[in-house]
Amino acid sequence: MSELDLVVRNARAVTASDIISCDIGVREGRIVSIGEALLKAAREIDAAGRYVTPGGVDAHCHLDQPHAAPIRMADDFTTGSRSAACGGTTTIIPFAAQMKGQSLLEAVAEYHGKAEGKAHVDYAFHLIVTDPTDEVIGKELPTLIGDGYTSFKIYMTYDDLKIDDRQIIELLDVARRYSAMPMVHAENAECIEWLTKKLEAAGRTAPRWHAESRPMLAEREATHRIITYAELIDVPLLIVHVSGKDVVEQIRWARSRGLRILAETCPQYLFLTAADLGLDDSYEGARCVCSPPPRDKTSQKAIWDGLADGTFTVFSSDHAPYRFLGEDGKHPGGKEVAFRHIPNGIPGLETRMPLLWSEGVLKRRITPQKFVELTATNPAKTYGLFPKKGTIAVGADADLVVWEAKETTICNAMLHHAVDYTPYDGMSLQAWPAMTLLRGNVVWNGKEFAGDLAGRFLPCGRPSLYPDV
Ligand code: URP
Ligand code: ZN
Ligand code: ZN
Repeated sequence: MSELDLVVRNARAVTASDIISCDIGVREGRIVSIGEALLKAAREIDAAGRYVTPGGVDAHCHLDQPHAAPIRMADDFTTGSRSAACGGTTTIIPFAAQMKGQSLLEAVAEYHGKAEGKAHVDYAFHLIVTDPTDEVIGKELPTLIGDGYTSFKIYMTYDDLKIDDRQIIELLDVARRYSAMPMVHAENAECIEWLTKKLEAAGRTAPRWHAESRPMLAEREATHRIITYAELIDVPLLIVHVSGKDVVEQIRWARSRGLRILAETCPQYLFLTAADLGLDDSYEGARCVCSPPPRDKTSQKAIWDGLADGTFTVFSSDHAPYRFLGEDGKHPGGKEVAFRHIPNGIPGLETRMPLLWSEGVLKRRITPQKFVELTATNPAKTYGLFPKKGTIAVGADADLVVWEAKETTICNAMLHHAVDYTPYDGMSLQAWPAMTLLRGNVVWNGKEFAGDLAGRFLPCGRPSLYPDV
């Protein structure tokens, strides 16, 4: 047997099912042996009894998506993937977004241009379908699914992204026929528009009113509706960025009927509430404007419970990077604008894993195995990247995170994105990645970023909810 390139020794290796004490042997970027006292390798890393988890798979992040001027995303593939690596994430699945009137094939080609040679971690693409023409439904989407783009996002809200219910049904039917995974942003656009107009007429335009304009009932109704369509078509789907209690109940209801409904949640629904958008008319809360908005403590608890009991399959960042200052972000044109015009989304690629490890695992709300399931194994399975990604097993890519118990107070200066704030500023965590390895190479050593633009495109295979028979 030829020599190993690397051995990670004395690891407490965590998978979605087990924790084992072992050495992990790596050759040519892949794990080739897991055992005791493996032979010496060219490179050695002593994990000294520390937890070692699979590199994170962040299945929901936005990088370099186009916007109408002056809005611009702060992170491109280089800064976004750098930030991911430093927070323990080695695979990202951002979106190739179709603009209305654009061909989906063209959108995908454009995104490859944005990513190729510019990513520090491996990446796949979800599609965003905003213009499901006959050509898209009949030809482009089936072709792309066959070529490794096996998931697509559907928006039920946002004027420039949403499609109507008939189009949604058509798309779900394509997903079923070609074994793709639809992901749905479920909020009732009509309720939101009606409430927004009413708030504007009353002069209530400060960031905090964003939360009032998108109440949980709008999310609950749209979730119920999309579950109904999934049942009609007999297709699995995943509801993205679930924010609170009423929606968690909808997911459980759907599962109790035997429907293949998966759910994702994100750090903002565990650590922020609507109060973070402001208690008065200050503009500071624009930092935390995202959709659906953060809710309340009761919803935070419902989300924690749902993570622990398996209601949620995936924990993603929904990194949507807009600067707070400067005219290309939360102050469009350099102004404090009405909440309707504040770009939606918050940064989170780098903080996703440390937040859940510290506040979830170390505070015993979830087990280490559940952490791995939610942050790596399930996203890899759901989107057809398993077992290459998302686990510690012979044959898998040697994407690993070594965890260190270390009190860390989050501040934006320590993060590696190009955004000028983090919503978690000042929060004290009990752990941070001491090392991140991408295919056996150190990309973060606990102090410094060490990536070299080695990220590769990953075509996605069959989503796990379409079992091969
Ligand atoms: O507010 C959010 N979540 N912005 C990002 C886009 C999306 O809908 O996920
Ligand atoms: Zn969304
Ligand atoms: Zn998103």
